[in-house]
Amino acid sequence: MPCCHADFALTENSDAAFTVGMPTFTFGAGCLAEAGEHARELGMKRVALFTDATLRHSPHVAAVSTSLRTAGVEATVYDEVAVEPTTASFQSAARFAAEGRFDGYVSVGGGSVMDTCKAANLYASYPAEFMSYVNAPIGGGQKVPGALKPHIACPTTSGTGSETTGIAIFNLTDINAKTGIISRRLIPTVALIDPDVTATLPRNVVAASGFDCMSHALESLTARPWPRRLNPARGATRPVSQGANPFSDGLATEALKGVGRHLVRAIRDASDVEARTEMMYAAMLAGIAFNAAGCHLPHGLSYAVSGLVRDFHLEGYPAGKTLVPHGMAVVLNNPSVWRYTAPCCPERHVHAAECLGAKTREVKPDDAREAGEALAGRVIELMRSAGIPNGLSDLGFAAKDIDALAAGAEPQWRVIRNAPKDVSRDDLKDLFSAAMRYW
Ligand SMILES: NC(=O)c1ccc[n+]([C@@H]2O[C@H](COP(=O)([O-])OP(=O)(O)OC[C@H]3O[C@@H](n4cnc5c(N)ncnc54)[C@H](O)[C@@H]3O)[C@@H](O)[C@H]2O)c1
Ligand SMILES: [Fe+2]
Repeated sequence: MPCCHADFALTENSDAAFTVGMPTFTFGAGCLAEAGEHARELGMKRVALFTDATLRHSPHVAAVSTSLRTAGVEATVYDEVAVEPTTASFQSAARFAAEGRFDGYVSVGGGSVMDTCKAANLYASYPAEFMSYVNAPIGGGQKVPGALKPHIACPTTSGTGSETTGIAIFNLTDINAKTGIISRRLIPTVALIDPDVTATLPRNVVAASGFDCMSHALESLTARPWPRRLNPARGATRPVSQGANPFSDGLATEALKGVGRHLVRAIRDASDVEARTEMMYAAMLAGIAFNAAGCHLPHGLSYAVSGLVRDFHLEGYPAGKTLVPHGMAVVLNNPSVWRYTAPCCPERHVHAAECLGAKTREVKPDDAREAGEALAGRVIELMRSAGIPNGLSDLGFAAKDIDALAAGAEPQWRVIRNAPKDVSRDDLKDLFSAAMRYW
């Protein structure tokens, strides 16, 4: 019985239960064609269809639009979503939603599109000053007052798992830091996960979003166990993300096996339908897992990297904009973090390395150094096979940037405190230093 595992032993003040939220999801080739039926079932008559400018003329948006039309559901398209959304892009989308008075929402896109749609639905349903719903302490952390309008989320990337989460992430331009809005109310009502969408994915997007998925699973497995989380709220106030738990462990384990077998194949060959389908499935599993367990250091550190990068662009992402894709910023901190967290739960690090395909027979499961090396080493192998930059220095960062990076990670205490140990400002500096170069 996994709840009896020593990691999950209850303490005097700990919460004795955990809560898992997720949408009703459909997984399978061609399921985008079901969008209209689901919309009608949910009582939708006039919906806002969110996408981005690249996907607007894609077969995926066409499939969903046709399905909605056939079902007699009127759809107004909003394609001004920013890739890696910002304060301004969330606010424009919210204005569009409020003015349109829609009775439902459909999103067709990656994490950027789905997150923007969640935020637009929220502000149109329960208007409020923009910062009020944003996570405390950066924003007001105000509770979402009630149910939102129904939302059908159709992911087109294989990584964020946003179709399953109550999380909407954006770059808060004022402080140049990523933050978000988190509530179970934001979880889409229905997710239509159609692996056919991956046929058009650029390889860099498969790589970045695939490593995002990998990190969601690794962070879920190694997060502070739920009975030991620092916020012991119970019942309806129990947070969305509560720390590692038996349910997220199971999903994260399966997701890592999928990533270990299929990520590199999916990146290298767009016609490898099996690999791309399996990555879509892994992303969904890892999304449900990390929504319940929470992310920690790799995500917390990544937000400083994406906020402070001076000049970087990757083919496959919109031109003319300095942008480190989210999944790339996340994976660049991974090996450094696993070497640091391994002493907290070495056997979980070895288990994760094994799921990802590492040969771990010689690794002593209670040896923290060997455990950290096993996982860091396997992640580095995958990064090299995928053509990921060799640490933060390949993005233009140097030793002189360490203080700024550590300061940039400071607003991320909400996720950082979900790490399996307490982290100081000096620890953050050490983690960034160790992430500069890996091979
Ligand atoms: N809400 C959550 O739970 C959650 C979790 C992880 C990440 N995120 C956020 O999601 C965002 C990243 O999302 P993402 O990695 O899915 O990428 P994305 O939505 O930013 O899209 C990246 C690029 O890929 C293109 N694209 C997407 N699908 C395509 C397809 N099928 N064919 C061709 N091109 C396609 C897009 O047009 C865009 O140019 C970040 O803002 C990140 O912070 C959110
Ligand atoms: Fe992520």
